[in-house]
Amino acid sequence: MTKTSEKSEPVRTARALWGGHFATDPAPLMQRINASIGFDKRLWAEDIRGSIAHARMLAACGIISETDRDAIIAGLKEIAREIEEGSFVFDPALEDIHLNIEARLIERIGEAGRRLHTARSRNDQVATDLRLWVKAACDRADRLLRALQEVLLVRAEAHAEDVMPGFTHLQVAQPVTLGHHLLAYVEMFGRDRSRFSDAARRMDECPLGAAALAGTSFPIDRAMTARELGFARPMANSIDAVSDRDFVLDYLASAAITAVHLSRLAEELVLWATPQFGFIKLPEAFTSGSSIMPQKRNPDAAELVRGKAGRVIGHLMALLTVLKGLPLAYSKDMQEDKEGLFDAADTLELCLAATAAMLEGARFDSARMREAAAIGHSTATDLADWLVRVKGVPFREAHGIAARAVRRAEELGCRLEELPDAELRALDPRIDAGVRAVLGVERSVASRTSFGGTAPIRVREAIAAARRRFLEP
Ligand code: ARG
Repeated sequence: MTKTSEKSEPVRTARALWGGHFATDPAPLMQRINASIGFDKRLWAEDIRGSIAHARMLAACGIISETDRDAIIAGLKEIAREIEEGSFVFDPALEDIHLNIEARLIERIGEAGRRLHTARSRNDQVATDLRLWVKAACDRADRLLRALQEVLLVRAEAHAEDVMPGFTHLQVAQPVTLGHHLLAYVEMFGRDRSRFSDAARRMDECPLGAAALAGTSFPIDRAMTARELGFARPMANSIDAVSDRDFVLDYLASAAITAVHLSRLAEELVLWATPQFGFIKLPEAFTSGSSIMPQKRNPDAAELVRGKAGRVIGHLMALLTVLKGLPLAYSKDMQEDKEGLFDAADTLELCLAATAAMLEGARFDSARMREAAAIGHSTATDLADWLVRVKGVPFREAHGIAARAVRRAEELGCRLEELPDAELRALDPRIDAGVRAVLGVERSVASRTSFGGTAPIRVREAIAAARRRFLEP
């Protein structure tokens, strides 16, 4: 085939772009299993950015002319406009976003368009596009997590002194404040943010110029394309550059852990919204009724946040499994990285936004929470601590006395703090009226002043510190 005939050949088939030595077109089934355009069209903006940077570099290094560069850049910008306004035709015969855009460029500008793919391959191209996309996704996750922390901090501040039961084994353990409980999530989401920023920092290296896997014989400037695309530096090894998908795993792992945190919070919302707990009234706009039970108000959004964690975790497992046996360098298996990634990001972003909105509109029933904090003899530890602190009783012995006090209260059908003085004295003569000071739930929380503890003064300090750590730029 001569150069001229190739130039005039239509470019609307993959065969025209890569199949010079193929006699037949791909089978329809081959097209179905092979094409990624149905989902990787989401990379169009990154693909065009990458191609513009590549064209600029090719011209700067004297590999293409400045005239060709200008034609390529103008053509790519026109294509971006076509995609934005919806007139661009995504063609499955052209496999993926890279071939779709390249074919359209050649259609629009001819000869110069055929020069764009010099010194690169779809292998370094897709790795570059996807890194750009995941870096942006890390930023979005960070912003949404920050917004959620902000809502939690506002609610924590309003409820810094409000007492609720703290649980272990989902059994009432010790009274805590609602503000303190909410701050626990502020910490989790802070760690999640740091995971996304670590991941973003690690993936801040540009694969472009690794070409198919071995690098290229053209005198390219990889530092230039890296800079143009906002990466800190080019990736050091061309084989690694095209075969690495750690950055997607990093994102998915961070997303999975975040989704687990969201799911735990959602579970608490579901539980707290039951009539049995009655701690919270979720905003009506995030609940649903039942078609047969008129009294119901179901916490659907919270349940879905809890449930969707399964999808995000699943996408992490799926990609780990895809990658685990792959030899270096690129294999087509790696095309399976995208659908899970996109779905994980969409799911995570939706769950973060929905959780923030639910919390913002929720009404906490402080009286009911306080009431629940007092049941279950939640200040038994305070009685034991008092015996140690005030009467010098060894803790193990004090623990036994407090346990007997709980048993006695249960026999009498009253709360620990309702035991009459005589009953307490009968349990141990060292217990006097002074103990009353620690048996109420407010006293109990106020006494837990250790760093990171639930006392309202510590909670207020912790809120101020969290604002400085997480919300100040
Ligand atoms: N659609 C491919 C992917 O997403 C692009 C890279 C194709 N490279 C190749 N040598 N066939 O992985």
